[in-house]
Amino acid sequence: MNKVKKIGVLTSGGDSPGMNAAIRAVVRSAIDFEMDIVGIRRGYNGLINGDAVALDSRSVSDIIQRGGTFLYTARCMEFMNPEGRQLGLEMAQKLGLDGLVVIGGDGSFRGAEKLSELGMPTVGIPGTIDNDIVCTEYSIGFDTACNIALEAVDRLRDTALSHEKCSLIEVMGRYAGHLALQVGVAAGATAVLVPEKASDIEKDICEKIREGRSSGKTHYIVIVAEGYKDKIDDIAKLIETQTDISTRVTVLGHIQRGGSPTVMDRVIAARMGYRAVDLLRKGIGNRIVAIKNNEVVDYNINEALCMKKSIDLELCEICKSIAK
Ligand code: ADP
Ligand code: F6P
Repeated sequence: MNKVKKIGVLTSGGDSPGMNAAIRAVVRSAIDFEMDIVGIRRGYNGLINGDAVALDSRSVSDIIQRGGTFLYTARCMEFMNPEGRQLGLEMAQKLGLDGLVVIGGDGSFRGAEKLSELGMPTVGIPGTIDNDIVCTEYSIGFDTACNIALEAVDRLRDTALSHEKCSLIEVMGRYAGHLALQVGVAAGATAVLVPEKASDIEKDICEKIREGRSSGKTHYIVIVAEGYKDKIDDIAKLIETQTDISTRVTVLGHIQRGGSPTVMDRVIAARMGYRAVDLLRKGIGNRIVAIKNNEVVDYNINEALCMKKSIDLELCEICKSIAK
């Protein structure tokens, strides 16, 4: 086995809180294993253009507590084509890399798989607030995003209570409802609308509002995942017409992607970052690091991306049952 002397690290796709902590873990582990480490800025764009910077222990000081990614992140259309990937490979070779860590989501891992096929061992670390990466129970940033969204919902509850309104809050998650469900249960929402499960606005929300009213309830919280089939404004209008309660819509948007990572995100980032470097130093590429039963595991990228993951249906039922 050739000694692995130098590796690179980049962040790609949407940022998530804890990416910095993951970069830090990658850099410090690599140094501990006596490897040189290079940061590639702006995702695969940086790989193609050679936007690279040598990193040492001090380069990653004071970033563990920061959201976002100090290496910047980007989407790169050029990397979707074989020509673009060839340029990326050539640049990686020019930089003297023996391996690469890619922190991102499914799309970024497809790129990582193709780089591995071209001969550059690449390992993926899941980082997205959506928690929609199928091979892992957890992706870096999810817990922080849930907590940021929850804090906002708690504030909205104060004003919904004071004005006796129904507050509809849209949370991110792309096509998945994991974020919405966690926030909805934690916030004690009257209802949570997720893309994975059909809901009946009349039965699941309007009826609950009428029932609540008859028992003295005056305000309501409804969490809507951004990927839900109907537009949040249309749902709000329907609720208002059917129940005669004043409704307000809040779209939380990118606020959920920022902020200082929670303990959970920092610790998972450390564990995953270490594993990714450990794989590369052994010359193992084409892997995704994941969490299974709270253990760090790793999978072949293609197999990992073909796995299935569903929303927690039991939690959906619990949510419905305890919302009164
Ligand atoms: P995420 O990694 O968060 O899922 P994207 O789907 O936007 O985000 O992917 C990030 C980047 O990964 C893309 O801009 C592109 O550079 C690269 N990528 C995505 N899909 C592929 C693919 N099928 N082949 C090669 N590269 C890809
Ligand atoms: O994947 C993270 C995410 O924030 C999704 O929840 C959301 O759908 C998407 O990125 C938004 O992307 P953009 O920042 O390009 O609007």
